[in-house]
Amino acid sequence: MSDVSGSDLDISDHDDITATQSWQALAAHQPHVFAMHLREVFAVDPDRGRELTLDVGDLHIDYSKHRVLRETIELLCSLAREAGLEERRDEMFAGVHINTSEDRAVLHTALRLPADAALTVDGQDVVADVHEVLTAMGEFTDRLRSGEWQGHTGKAITDVVNIGIGGSDLGPVMVYQSLRHYVDSDIRCHFVSNVDPADMVGTLADLDAETTLFIIASKTFTTLETLTNAAAARTWLLDQLGAGPDAVAKHFVAVSTNADEVANFGIDTANMFGFWDWVGGRYSVDSAIGLSVMAAIGKERFGEFLDGFHIVDEHFRTAPLEQNAPVLLGLIGLWYSNFWDAQTRAVLPYSNDMARFAAYLQQLTMESNGKSVTAHGHHVTTETGEIFWGEPGTNGQHAFYQLLHQGTRMVPSDFIGFAEPTDDLPTADGTGSMHDLLMSNYFAQTKVLAFGKTADEIAAEGVAPNVVAHKVMPGNRPSTSILAPKLTPSVIGQLVALYEHQVFVEGAIWGINPFDQWGVELGKTQAKELLGVIVDDASPAAQGDSSTDELVRWYRAHR
Ligand code: F6P
Repeated sequence: MSDVSGSDLDISDHDDITATQSWQALAAHQPHVFAMHLREVFAVDPDRGRELTLDVGDLHIDYSKHRVLRETIELLCSLAREAGLEERRDEMFAGVHINTSEDRAVLHTALRLPADAALTVDGQDVVADVHEVLTAMGEFTDRLRSGEWQGHTGKAITDVVNIGIGGSDLGPVMVYQSLRHYVDSDIRCHFVSNVDPADMVGTLADLDAETTLFIIASKTFTTLETLTNAAAARTWLLDQLGAGPDAVAKHFVAVSTNADEVANFGIDTANMFGFWDWVGGRYSVDSAIGLSVMAAIGKERFGEFLDGFHIVDEHFRTAPLEQNAPVLLGLIGLWYSNFWDAQTRAVLPYSNDMARFAAYLQQLTMESNGKSVTAHGHHVTTETGEIFWGEPGTNGQHAFYQLLHQGTRMVPSDFIGFAEPTDDLPTADGTGSMHDLLMSNYFAQTKVLAFGKTADEIAAEGVAPNVVAHKVMPGNRPSTSILAPKLTPSVIGQLVALYEHQVFVEGAIWGINPFDQWGVELGKTQAKELLGVIVDDASPAAQGDSSTDELVRWYRAHR
């Protein structure tokens, strides 16, 4: 394991997952699998392409092109059992405070429970609370979409700007883009997150204040970037309208857990949509944080989006580990991270509409599992936190797939594709479909990654001997293939839930708490301190290290 901890915390045997029998069995098993090429794996187990698959909701998941044998799956499931995965999962669904460092329940699964479900946590009827907010969101977005809600000058709203960052931005923007075909109103959504003023200025440039509504989305309502952008938006609006603060009520609503700070900002809390401390920011797109999405697609489609999550929640909660998609995919991710030294996982949607999916997953997975102490505060004994990245196919094919195919690193990849296109055009010769062309690439890539092409095969094609080695496609590179009939609200919900629960599976086995994010705090406080220093030439530049001192001096001299 790489030593990046700098920590002097003790390792406790209690937390040492690597000391378990199942871990040892997997370590002993790995060289056997390592020695086999996927060509051989398929030759000795020809049915695996039909049998190592799962159908969950609308998702068809093929995990046969992984470097796992059926025995590997059994061993991984034994590890999950020995780590108490099923107990942890049941605790999460029941509302136990499994986010121990913040003493909170973790209940994003409650956000998508049907209205007739029952769940009381800490004395609160959680289902009633969730549906009360959903009803309020539905009423508000109905008024917005019908034009009944009007701006300060009496005009209907045409543009909604969601101001938020991290979980208060990445989910809504990813889902809005993915579901652009379901936008059935005159409302267009925009998203401002970065405190770089270019983000706000660029967005406002095309907007008319009279017909613009801002959603200030912040769980805490203390996030510097969001509050700074919200204040800039308010100044712009009042300037543009030549109006006083009373115009704010018709153009600003809030999504938050912090009513006091919402009121402090000047937003009427009657125009606030709440959620709860048991919803982590990166798990919140299906809470009121999805208000912009609901404004665009309507409450019925938003309901289908939530239903999609619930399908996968129920599968995760009830399916045996050996047939449980988030469990198996999480375990396979862990298998490569911990037993094969894989550093990263590529996520490759063959859908341009899912362009922000990898960015969304980066927060979901890396803010959750980028931890080096266990939930008990002891240093972990193995690598944690897969690094997620990706781009839509086929763009990635012409950028980084070279390394996936012939590089020295193994990069397990998730391919996501759809049978039915959201858009289609005829191919150049007019006989085919561009969507089929896209999907032929999807199938070709997973095939070539797994099976490659040997030197003999290449030589047999008459390739010059000095070029053969360069053309060899080693293959043996693992991938998951995920297919769905179409990119619908339900399917995007199913996909998000599939990854949410993989994060949970890995975190449970590593023994870490995937639901806090203390690692982002120090940078925030230091930025506040440094702001005073970098803009005040009279203040001492010394920050205690020569690098920062010199950088600050350089910045002061050039700003
Ligand atoms: O800085 C990290 C973080 O706390 C994320 O976890 C969160 O999604 C984001 O900031 C935004 O927080 P908030 O919704 O409270 O503004």
